[in-house]
Amino acid sequence: MNYYYIETFGCQMNVHESEKIAGILSSRGLSATDNVNLADVIVFNTCCIRDTAEKKIEGNIGELKALKRASPEKILIVSGCMTQQKGRAEALKKRFPFIDIILGTANQYELGAELDKLCASPKRSKRVSVRFDDRPPIDESVPVTRTSYPNAWVNIMYGCNNFCTYCIVPYVRGRERSRDKEHIIAEIRTLLDSGYKEITLLGQNVDSYGSDIGNVTFYDLLKDIAKINAKFRLRFMTSHPKDLSEEVIKIIAETPNFCNNIHLPVQSGSDRILKAMNRKYTRKRYLELIETIRKYMPNCGITSDIMVGFPGETDEDFADTMSLTSSVRFQNAFTFVYSPRAGTPAAQMEQIPKEIKKERITALVALQNRISDEISADYLGKTEEILAEDAPEENVLVGRTDTGRLVRFAGDRSLIGSFINVKITKNKASALFGEIVNNG
Ligand code: 5AD
Ligand code: SF4
Repeated sequence: MNYYYIETFGCQMNVHESEKIAGILSSRGLSATDNVNLADVIVFNTCCIRDTAEKKIEGNIGELKALKRASPEKILIVSGCMTQQKGRAEALKKRFPFIDIILGTANQYELGAELDKLCASPKRSKRVSVRFDDRPPIDESVPVTRTSYPNAWVNIMYGCNNFCTYCIVPYVRGRERSRDKEHIIAEIRTLLDSGYKEITLLGQNVDSYGSDIGNVTFYDLLKDIAKINAKFRLRFMTSHPKDLSEEVIKIIAETPNFCNNIHLPVQSGSDRILKAMNRKYTRKRYLELIETIRKYMPNCGITSDIMVGFPGETDEDFADTMSLTSSVRFQNAFTFVYSPRAGTPAAQMEQIPKEIKKERITALVALQNRISDEISADYLGKTEEILAEDAPEENVLVGRTDTGRLVRFAGDRSLIGSFINVKITKNKASALFGEIVNNG
C-alpha cells in the first residue's frame, strides 16, 4: 500500500481527527494523495450534525461503488460521527456493502489495528468496529500529520455534557473528557518550537474545560498559555454562553497573543425557544455577555451560530432572533435550518413546515450578510497585522486579521507563516482585499 486519501466532513474537530488518521496511516509508510483513484486506502471521516451533511456523505460513498468494483483491493474506511449513531453502522453496511471498515469516533485511534485485522483475514471480511462508550479513553500517543500550517489544532477536551435538545453531538461523542493541562501545554510548546504560528484550541464547550477532572479550569489553562514567551496567535472554539466567564474575557483582552475573536453561538433570540433548546441562558444574559466582551475588547470579532425553524418557533420567536442579530451585529454568523436528528428530544416535538423554515433562513441570511458587509466596510483604509496562511493562486496570499477576518492580498507564498502588515483597500461581501504595507 502506498497512498491514502482522506475526505473530511463537518467541523474543525473532524478536520483535526483526520490529521490523526493521516498520522496513523503515515506511520505505516503511506503517503497522502488528493487523487482518490491513486489511493490504496480511502477514508471518509463523517459528520451527522444535520441531514444535509448525511445525505451528501451517502451520495459521496455511493459514488465510490464503481471504483471499488474496478479495484476491489482498495480499502474503503468510513469513520466518524455518522457511524456512531445507534443502528447506523449496520444500516451503512447494508446499503454500502463495499465498505471495508466502519469505524466509530470513540475508537478512531484503533484504525491501524483495524487495518491489520482486515488484511490478516483470508477473505478480507468486512469489519464494523464501533464502540458505545460514553467515556472512551484519551490516547495521547496517536501520531498527527498536520495539514493546516501555520495553524495547529489542539484538542483540549472531547465530548459534550449539554444535551441541547436539537443536537446529536452528545450521543455520538460521549461525555466531556478533558486532557491534562500539562499535556496541552507541552503540545503547544512543541508546536511553537517547530514553527507553528497559530494555535486553535478545540472543544465542544471549551469553557467547561477541566470540570470533569477538577482543580483546573479553562482560565487556568489560558493563564499558563499566556506565560509562553513567543509570538503566536491563540484562538479557541467553541464557547458556550452559559459558561463563558468574565475572567476568561479579561485574560483574552490582556494577552497580546490571544486573538480578539470569540465564537459564541446564540442559536436563538427567543427565551421561549432557548428554554426548549435547553441552552440554559436567556436573551438578556447573552446580551450582557456581549456587552462585557465589548467593554474589554471594543473591536472583538464576535461570530455566532444561529438556527431557524426549531420546533414551535413562532413568527414572534423568529422576530426575536432577527432583532438580536440586528442589535449584536455579529462579524459573521453560520446560519442553519433546524434538522431533526433521530434520538434527540426535539425530533419528537411538533415540527414546523419547510416553507416557513425557508422564508426565515432567507431573511436571516440577508440580514447577516448586510451586517457583515457593513462591518467589512469599517476595515477600509485600516492597516491590519495579518498572519499569511495560504496561497490559493500564484502570488496571492490569504490570511486573517486578529479578529478573524479573511484578507486576500498580493504576495509570495514564501511569506506563509509570517505576520505582515496589510492595508485594507477593498471589500466585497465578507471578503477583504489589501496590499502589503512596506515598513521600509
Ligand atoms: N439542526 C440544525 N443545526 C444544528 N446545529 C446543531 N444541531 C443542529 C441541528 N439538529 C448547529 C448549531 C451548532 C452548530 C455546530 O450546528 O447551531 O452550534
Ligand atoms: Fe451540541 Fe449543545 Fe453540546 Fe454544542 S453545547 S455540541 S450544540 S449539545
